[in-house]
Amino acid sequence: GGERHPSIPLPRDLFAPERKNSEGVDLQDKDTLAGVASAIATSPLPLAGGAGGGKTPDPGAGSNALPTPNPSRKREGDLIGAAQSAYPAWTARPVHERADCLDRLSDLLETHRTELMAICVHEARKTIPDALAEVREAVDFCRYYADQARAHLVPIELPGPTGERNVLRHEGRGVWATIAPWNFPLAIFLGQTVAALVAGNAVIAKPAPQTPRIAARAVELAHEAGVPRDVLILAEGGPDVGAAIVADPRIAGVAFTGSTPTARKIARSLLDDESRPLVPLIAETGGVNAMIVDSTALPEQVVQDVVTSSFRSAGQRCSALRLLLLQEDVAEGMLEMLAGAMDTLIVGDPADPATDVGPVIDQAAYDKLMAHREKMRNSWIHTVSPLPLAGGAGGGKSPQPGADSNALPTPNPSRKREGNMFFVPPTAIRLRSMDDLSTEWFGPLLHVATWKAGELEETIARVNAKGFGLTMGLHSRIARSAETVEALARVGNLYVNRSMIGAIVGSQPFGGEGFSGTGPKAGGPHYLPRFCAERVTSTDT
Ligand code: SER
Repeated sequence: GGERHPSIPLPRDLFAPERKNSEGVDLQDKDTLAGVASAIATSPLPLAGGAGGGKTPDPGAGSNALPTPNPSRKREGDLIGAAQSAYPAWTARPVHERADCLDRLSDLLETHRTELMAICVHEARKTIPDALAEVREAVDFCRYYADQARAHLVPIELPGPTGERNVLRHEGRGVWATIAPWNFPLAIFLGQTVAALVAGNAVIAKPAPQTPRIAARAVELAHEAGVPRDVLILAEGGPDVGAAIVADPRIAGVAFTGSTPTARKIARSLLDDESRPLVPLIAETGGVNAMIVDSTALPEQVVQDVVTSSFRSAGQRCSALRLLLLQEDVAEGMLEMLAGAMDTLIVGDPADPATDVGPVIDQAAYDKLMAHREKMRNSWIHTVSPLPLAGGAGGGKSPQPGADSNALPTPNPSRKREGNMFFVPPTAIRLRSMDDLSTEWFGPLLHVATWKAGELEETIARVNAKGFGLTMGLHSRIARSAETVEALARVGNLYVNRSMIGAIVGSQPFGGEGFSGTGPKAGGPHYLPRFCAERVTSTDT
């Protein structure tokens, strides 16, 4: 049958360097890299986690020097009340005026790109390529939602019986709360926020407690772009602050990106109070994302896409590959190549442009991931050690591909925490069964299992049964297999013969279903209306 004749053409650009970065980020841009390196070197920002810090800024450092964080920016008092008072004037503004604010904000983000990148590197421990992608995605969100708003958030005449006029309007709902994660502290923080704003809402925006500075800077720039001060209010703090905002009956909607358990708590809180209006929750959560690889897949491409999808950004993307499912017949060869590819990864200081994999966000994340990694020690396929930081101790590569797994190095506990950064060594872990993974491990840990030829449908069903539905990957050159996966996979984003991360605004609207979120999809054409009240007027003419 057809399965003997693979029919998906081979990619022409497989070995072209630009394929390395699925987000189309121009890493050859030397001016950007030089500007960021200089901004990082002169940053007065303390390193995340408290101690440490950059050098004192050179007074002559110029525009690349980062502003000293201003502790007085925190607002006190009734923030929701202030936003409520500012809401009517904002929502009464024509949609194109609100969209113009987003366009001006996107320009400001570009103007301040190196500064914003440097804050991302310092505060969120992003690598420089990831920091660049972060700013670009934030810019993309602003421009895309501005265009979408102008095109679609306008009164729409609907057909009706003769003698009647029906008009559908999109209007603001009131004060939204947007609650953002630390892994996209600028792009997702702003994406959710500007969507709510352009739809005619006021916003209380709460960043993750790990990344308040980049959020504060984004809010400052939004104000500079023309969003009134009380229409967008930053609310810093931990889960208690988020809980208090969500519990306030004046909140007209919540856009949240984070964990599934927190999304449930928010949903409960929104429904708890009997006297409260019913309001929308947009939640984007995690995934146990699988990639299915069959024997017709191109091994070099698979390995490259696996490394990108599971280890880039230190695996701290909700889209990241967690469960690699190799067809049994090709598993050993693929794993040998994977080990070789892992050995080329540079795990180290995120401020070094050469780094591929930086540290994880904080000690809590590190402890959780390392405990799991340690528990799975007997099942390690391959692991890569971080490079020693300047002045630090230890480091080095793990054994060459093909080496006996008993020969893996014993981890040196003194190496785990260097310069106040927490490195989790990228590690591939073998599972006896694909059903053994039901938790999202939010870091550079890849689980691998095998499936038998002829069991593609059953394999997809077992992935679906986990209940998450964010991303899935397929590597195959059989068109019919791609159709099968497309028909059966219950995920928001399916990636065929490519990496599974780096969704592009407007091209790959992003978001999942099941335990992975409520939809709609960020960066997609149906996102903005979900922030609106849709009202229809029918007039007898
Ligand atoms: N939008 C991000 C990605 O596609 C989410 O993690 O990688």
